[in-house]
Amino acid sequence: DLFGKERRNSEGFNLADTEQLYSLQKSLDELSGLSHHAGPLINGKCLSGSERVIVNPANHSHKVGTVAFCGADTVADALDTASEAFDAWRSTNVQKRARYLNNAADLLEYNRTELVSLCVSEGSRTIKDALADVREAVDFCRYYAARTLELFDRPMALPGPCGEDNFLAYYGRGVFLCISPWNFPIAIFTGQIAAALAAGNTVVAKPAEATSLTAAACVKLLHQAGIPGPVLNFVPGIGSEIGPLLLRDPRIAGVAFTGSTETARSINRQLAEHADIVPLIAETGGQNAMIADTSAHKEQLVLDAVQSAFNSAGQRCSALRVLFLPHETADKVIELLIGAMQQLTIGDPGHYATDIGPVIDRKALDKLNTHVEAMRQHAGILFQSPLPHELPDGTYFPPTLIEIDSLAQLTEEVFGPILHIVRYSSNTLEQVIDDINATGYGLTLGIHSRINATARKIQQQAKVGNLYINRNMIGATVGVQPFGGMGLSGTGPKAGGPDYLKRFSVEQTVTINT
Ligand code: SER
Repeated sequence: DLFGKERRNSEGFNLADTEQLYSLQKSLDELSGLSHHAGPLINGKCLSGSERVIVNPANHSHKVGTVAFCGADTVADALDTASEAFDAWRSTNVQKRARYLNNAADLLEYNRTELVSLCVSEGSRTIKDALADVREAVDFCRYYAARTLELFDRPMALPGPCGEDNFLAYYGRGVFLCISPWNFPIAIFTGQIAAALAAGNTVVAKPAEATSLTAAACVKLLHQAGIPGPVLNFVPGIGSEIGPLLLRDPRIAGVAFTGSTETARSINRQLAEHADIVPLIAETGGQNAMIADTSAHKEQLVLDAVQSAFNSAGQRCSALRVLFLPHETADKVIELLIGAMQQLTIGDPGHYATDIGPVIDRKALDKLNTHVEAMRQHAGILFQSPLPHELPDGTYFPPTLIEIDSLAQLTEEVFGPILHIVRYSSNTLEQVIDDINATGYGLTLGIHSRINATARKIQQQAKVGNLYINRNMIGATVGVQPFGGMGLSGTGPKAGGPDYLKRFSVEQTVTINT
């Protein structure tokens, strides 16, 4: 039932089905030889711009394609077009809007292999991650389609005195600017756009520079699904150049942003210059912790910590950065962690057996190396997984385990496969929670305890958006674990949650004296 309120998440891809997996691998190997091109898409037309070459982070000699980046004229075109298209889209039948998004979900699934291929070679995501990225994008489209039917299709009747009818209705705000990151180039890119469109806004979408080709492929599918060209405009470009042009334009009615806390602050400052009060929906960084107590099941803890810290080469905003271990069990857990890290396969993300691919670019690699060098002075490098000798020229960084004395030694988010360990005394658990809260970030938190009262106490005191007990803390599922943080980690509302679309809308109450 595509148009009703019933909705199911995508079935995704069964990685245990080796026949399907080998056939996917074969198709990906064939597709990896293709060269891609993308550019701005304004009013349904592909425009030219200043050409950039995109290389594969896993192998710098592999040119994935070229992308034309926008200049000021194209940005102005995009804003004119989206602004002119707004009135018609705002009043487009809500069933139709939902149908387009459901069509888009079907097309994303149907074109999964091509999307995975691009996402792997441009975005350095492993095959497994890229499959999950497509799946999440599909889920976002279907979820927001269902929510728009619930919220926007007809006004909500409200109680009132006899002789009076009251209604509440939701409408789009205007032109929404969607600014997305490279680490989920399919899911977050598509999710922001799907929400803005579902709520009746027109969109100007600015993808991350590093993953513009993957983003362009998603835009083409959204257009193919029925979203009119003028309603969704695509502006690849250099953030520091075109960002201010977009953000300072008085026609921008709202911004959805996922990326660093620092950039969110800068966006907020630019929006504050508008005469209108322009809402910002920001999902930003984290200093995510996991707390284990002495009752934790060690093997489960180690599996969950390794997945949370190192999957996607630690390049998830949800990823685990600091594991708190009680003195009593720390040595044993560290020994198991090192054993598990020795089993990780580091290499080409385009091979199904790879666990950890490269980080996105040279700048990211340099930052991680600088962090490890700084830590060497004050902390213990417990282990670095050895990198295989035969790796091509790419931005590989080995999963690393570092012991620090306290959370205060980390001054900023370390966005990569580095896990820090802090030992604590069981009678200072309160202090551990206070220290985590004191970072000001509040995105994800993992708890490993088999004592319900301890888990509940941490849960009640921790100021974080997504809490995971006795499992890993990554890979939030749409409609199941609505995702987003508090404090320095974001403004809310949660993506993939029941309130997300409301923030993209304006509300109108109508009272009729009958
Ligand atoms: N939504 C992603 C996750 O849960 C975070 O970036 O891993």
